[in-house]
Amino acid sequence: MLELKVDLNERSYPIFIGEHLLSDEGRLKQYVGQSRPVIITNTTIAPLYLDTLLAVFDAQAPLHFVIPDGEQYKSLEWFEKISAFLLEHNCGRDTCLIALGGGVVGDLTGFVAACYQRGVPFIQIPTTLLSQVDSSVGGKTAVNHPLGKNMIGAFYQPKAVFIDTKTLDTLPAREFAAGMAEVIKYALIYDAAFLDTLAELHSELSTLNTQSLQQVIYKCCAIKAEIVAKDETEAGLRALLNLGHTFGHAIEAEMGYGNWLHGEAVAAGMMIAANLACQRGALNADEVEKIRDVIALYQLPTEAPSEMTGEQFLMHMRKDKKNKQGKIRFILPTQLGQCTLVDDVSDETVVTLIGR
Ligand SMILES: NC(=O)c1ccc[n+]([C@@H]2O[C@H](COP(=O)([O-])OP(=O)(O)OC[C@H]3O[C@@H](n4cnc5c(N)ncnc54)[C@H](O)[C@@H]3O)[C@@H](O)[C@H]2O)c1
Ligand SMILES: [Zn+2]
Repeated sequence: MLELKVDLNERSYPIFIGEHLLSDEGRLKQYVGQSRPVIITNTTIAPLYLDTLLAVFDAQAPLHFVIPDGEQYKSLEWFEKISAFLLEHNCGRDTCLIALGGGVVGDLTGFVAACYQRGVPFIQIPTTLLSQVDSSVGGKTAVNHPLGKNMIGAFYQPKAVFIDTKTLDTLPAREFAAGMAEVIKYALIYDAAFLDTLAELHSELSTLNTQSLQQVIYKCCAIKAEIVAKDETEAGLRALLNLGHTFGHAIEAEMGYGNWLHGEAVAAGMMIAANLACQRGALNADEVEKIRDVIALYQLPTEAPSEMTGEQFLMHMRKDKKNKQGKIRFILPTQLGQCTLVDDVSDETVVTLIGR
């Protein structure tokens, strides 16, 4: 088992990465405490992993709440339903919530934890690759609003993150690939050598080799933990984690959420950002090819959807949360393994880049 720490003074917490952590009674109880815990999960994950976790807390008569599966349930409506459930069961301020699932369950549970009785402890047990390397770490919690994704939320850190790599055995291949987009993102913003590692480890990762998975997840969590420790509330540095996301969010919004998975849109978005960086002289053609090769190796898209125009990208990107003073802000590579935020890309450049 591997362990690392997110260093945030009194809000510091550990991330454990290993196999069978779902049934690691001693360690789980250490962070959940003595009170009756409440496990929040969804209809896909419950039949797979809920019983294992319930058994751990058997003596504490654990409660569980199962939401339907889907991004649309990361909503104020389900926030309210969970809150009502906690009240009906007289859950007090010492109740620990346990998020068992992907980013949807994690973001929603975290936001309930942040708000219920002004804050109760929670732990994350992420079960998708994306949530293991990204959403479970760093304390961003939120629900969606009809007028925008993740628009209502809070920065609220968990007490611990338990990454059980065995749960990836049941994750659909397409979801695994989508998670790899965020993994590749860490290489592009922080560590060029890690990009080579990802190319080398392709067959091990694709066959879910435990050691390789844990090594890669550890690396991603270490990078995210370091960035979050320096900039918890995204005053600056943390924005770099949005590489590929400005273009990616535009793709998700235009194509309809769910048609392109988040990671797929981010992969195409990173390629567009790499091409733009190349135009600006920050990357050379070989480096862009290298990025394209790794993205393609993991069966991810390397181009914008053919039906999307530059103007459609701009329309969505003008609404981006990162924008300041009406200017679209992009995260672009300055070299392999390093990125920066720029706000001087003209609309014409975007249209030319997209090519239609
Ligand atoms: N908080 C953050 O910092 C942050 C960062 C990135 C993304 N997010 C959010 O995360 C969400 C996306 O997360 P996601 O990609 O994990 O999606 P998800 O939670 O919807 O999970 C994807 C699918 O995989 C299923 N699933 C999960 N674990 C499984 C397993 N072990 N076996 C079989 N099926 C499994 C889920 O039921 C779902 O159908 C979005 O809402 C996004 O906004 C948050
Ligand atoms: Zn993302």
